[in-house]
Amino acid sequence: AQNKPLKGKKVLITAGPTYEKIDPVRYIGNHSSGKMGFALAEECAARGADVILVAGPVTLPTPNGVRRVDVQTAAEMYDAACEAFSTADAAILCAAVADFTVAQQAGEKIKRGNDGLQLTLVPTRDIAAELGRRKRAGQVVVGFALETQNEAANARDKMQRKNFDFIVLNSLRDKGAGFAVDTNKITILTPDAERAYPLKPKREVAKDIVQTLCEKFN
Ligand code: PMT
Repeated sequence: AQNKPLKGKKVLITAGPTYEKIDPVRYIGNHSSGKMGFALAEECAARGADVILVAGPVTLPTPNGVRRVDVQTAAEMYDAACEAFSTADAAILCAAVADFTVAQQAGEKIKRGNDGLQLTLVPTRDIAAELGRRKRAGQVVVGFALETQNEAANARDKMQRKNFDFIVLNSLRDKGAGFAVDTNKITILTPDAERAYPLKPKREVAKDIVQTLCEKFN
């Protein structure tokens, strides 16, 4: 149990972006590559967890011993995550889920014209907030915050609103952090503390996050 502290624990991880369809050829997406979430899945599996990785559209190989469910949209990710969470011991919500989706998808390719195009967007459901609401005694929910300003205050607010046990903050103002790169620079905020880590490879960042998760279980 020394090197497999998560043996017997089921951990849900969300990773990657979501794609919200505009028409059969276009979508609204974001720059998430899935690297951070996949590194977390690999680390949890290495520590003995039964990992279920709900992945948006990314081009990464599945880490060894990880069960992967591929989804495209925020709505699909919501369904897959809620189902997995009902039997999970922990959730780490690393996906960059679209906050808005297109109100009415066009059935055919939208034609180019001389006028502009207006799309109506409607909010998606917040997976993290829903899992925070459903959290039972003994379950641990870990969120992420991707910020561009007022980082710590925004992250702390998200942790409280979404009922996370702790939150991992990364800022697009830090060089080498966030989307697509192989490194990240994080601060882990708990309800009563805050710890900043140096810039590291995402595989190493994952160790720091999973170590904090293991401490929550003890
Ligand atoms: O994939 P990479 O290229 O490696 O990049 C990693 C990352 C930058 C995507 C990752 O480290 C990260 O910060 N993920 C969270 C991105 C995000 O959407 O943050 P947010 O602050 O908007 O969301 C707050 C939390 O709510 C997150 O845990 C998010 O997963 C969750 N959320 C948000 C909206 C929604 N509809 N459902 C959610 O679950």
